[in-house]
Amino acid sequence: MRILVTGGTGFIGSHTVVELQQAGYNVVIADNLINSNIEVLDGIENITGVRPAFEKVDLTDITATKEIFKKHKDITAIIHFAALKAVGESVGKPLEYYGNNINSIINMLTCMREFDVRNFVFSSSCTVYGQADVLPVTEQTPKKKAESPYGNTKAICEDIMNDFAFAENQFKMIALRYFNPIGAHPSSQIGELPNGTPNNLIPYITQTVAGIRKELSVFGNDYNTPDGTPIRDYIDIVDLAKAHVTAIQRLIDNKNKSNIEYFNIGTGTGVSVLELIETFEKATGRKVPYKITARRAGDIEKIWADTTFANRELGWKAEVPLSESLLNAWKWQEKLGSLKL
Ligand code: NAD
Ligand code: UD1
Repeated sequence: MRILVTGGTGFIGSHTVVELQQAGYNVVIADNLINSNIEVLDGIENITGVRPAFEKVDLTDITATKEIFKKHKDITAIIHFAALKAVGESVGKPLEYYGNNINSIINMLTCMREFDVRNFVFSSSCTVYGQADVLPVTEQTPKKKAESPYGNTKAICEDIMNDFAFAENQFKMIALRYFNPIGAHPSSQIGELPNGTPNNLIPYITQTVAGIRKELSVFGNDYNTPDGTPIRDYIDIVDLAKAHVTAIQRLIDNKNKSNIEYFNIGTGTGVSVLELIETFEKATGRKVPYKITARRAGDIEKIWADTTFANRELGWKAEVPLSESLLNAWKWQEKLGSLKL
């Protein structure tokens, strides 16, 4: 039994490969390395003692994608992480984002049908909810129009999965809607490798504290929240990775209730930007230099997950405290400083 992990050298994919291998699964990674580095395989091997099979493939290339399935005939499930994910970049490059993210999922589903692979887990995002009217959001919270081409690719991919599941009901699919993934493996062997100036809060903080950036801009303190800064649900990367293992197991064991299911993967707790900075400072003993600036276009005010459904149905729950995730992110930043990637 082998799991095909697309985007498996990326941030979330690499941590998931570790958890899959530690749970006893064989893995083959397919990645074109457009946003990751082959040395990630060393980190995975150092943690698990097993080097996963690796295929350097652009998943928008259907011929090359089919070759993976011809070569690895024991693939029984797919976790599809591969995508371009920079929200701001997607606004300037919509064709690249739609082309990459939509064509790659269509190719994966096409291969599922051709090679009769029945189980599929997809990386979706809480971005599909936009600014919800009622918090916390459940899986039934209505979706809102996406704020960016990137966000729209997630909504479209969910629609494609839904239509495919309806048309071909022998295939079983789960879309995991991640909230804000943060942290790094506690071993500091793998972590996030942001490309250029980070857009996301945690790598911006760690790079600022490491002296790579001058100071963090806190994007607005005039929101309708207790301290005026926006609220998010920050989910530890190892907890998130483990959610994929339980989702795969659910499909393989035929425990799914319908052939397409959606789960919120968060902690269930909302944290403001200023609260997060304070927790980082306490956990690491490092000061975060910051200033309050204008709001960032497209930011929502607040969102956090209702995780009741995931907790009950997947038997999964976020466990790692925020302070520990932030400490692991900092330890990874310190290690990165000494790496030549
Ligand atoms: P990442 O960029 O670290 O990993 C994505 C991987 O996919 C990279 O290794 C990249 O090289 C690969 N890839 C991209 N296009 C490819 C293609 N055409 N063929 C082969 N490989 C390709 O990103 P991540 O943070 O690990 O995100 C993984 C998934 O989770 C993505 O689908 C992303 O949209 C989704 N997601 C991420 C977040 C987040 O905050 N990180 C939140 C919600 C959803
Ligand atoms: C963003 C994307 C979301 C995507 C996710 C993962 C937007 C509007 N949303 O989520 O679609 O799924 O990344 O890639 O881009 N912040 C600062 N200063 C910074 C960076 C962030 O104050 O330098 C604040 C933001 O205003 C936000 C919080 O920190 O309130 C988290 O930001 P970020 O890490 O970028 O994630 P999201 O905006 O939640």
